[in-house]
Amino acid sequence: AGKRGLIIAIDGPSGAGKSTITKQLADRLGYIHIDTGAMFRAVALAASRAGINVDDDAALAGLCRGMEISFVRDNGCCRVVANGEDVSAAIRTPEISLLTSAISARKVVRDFLLGLQRRMGCNGGVILEGRDIGTVVFPDAEVKFYLSASAEERGRRRWLELTARGEAISLEETIAAVVRRDRQDSGREHAPLKRADDAIDIDSTGLTIEEVLDRMEACVRDRERQF
Ligand code: DC
Repeated sequence: AGKRGLIIAIDGPSGAGKSTITKQLADRLGYIHIDTGAMFRAVALAASRAGINVDDDAALAGLCRGMEISFVRDNGCCRVVANGEDVSAAIRTPEISLLTSAISARKVVRDFLLGLQRRMGCNGGVILEGRDIGTVVFPDAEVKFYLSASAEERGRRRWLELTARGEAISLEETIAAVVRRDRQDSGREHAPLKRADDAIDIDSTGLTIEEVLDRMEACVRDRERQF
């Protein structure tokens, strides 16, 4: 009694289905879901609105000091609130996605969010999703997953989304963009995308969401029994 709940880390490249999977796994387990990508996006949005340049570390540090980021559950939906404003939709535009990729490479921003993420997760009963949760944020997390899928599969999923929105882009181009972004996320100096040595590999290529969730839930239940 009095012991904290489990900390679960889910890392992996974009397009592997992390957000959908994490949200549903959190619902199944009754855990709190912390989307760290959304936190980087919130900082990027604030920087963009303030007209701050991505390489202006002093201004970024000042921006971070004045920022308050939280997650609010609303009808089974997790809203991102920054300085009192619901920014859930504003952080998902293509412009902010691109800026976030650059902002997330800045050490001042990573350091700020690292502290915040640790404070949000330290009581357990949480699932954090991101790129460096199992390696940097919570290297002692009780369960770590590395969720991936082939570049072709991730490109195909992304292409289906884009074409459904009426965007004219070829499947080949979309797959090439996925490969490029992987290289950018893995090659950066600070907290690159990297699989933790003790992570459980989940390759979602050819699996349904239910199949992926069943596997992950079984791993967590197993660990809960020994905790
Ligand atoms: O998961 P996402 O697409 O919302 O992430 C947005 C960007 O933030 C992406 O370029 C990777 C970066 N990111 C990161 O560097 N570290 C994290 N823990 C989460 C996201």
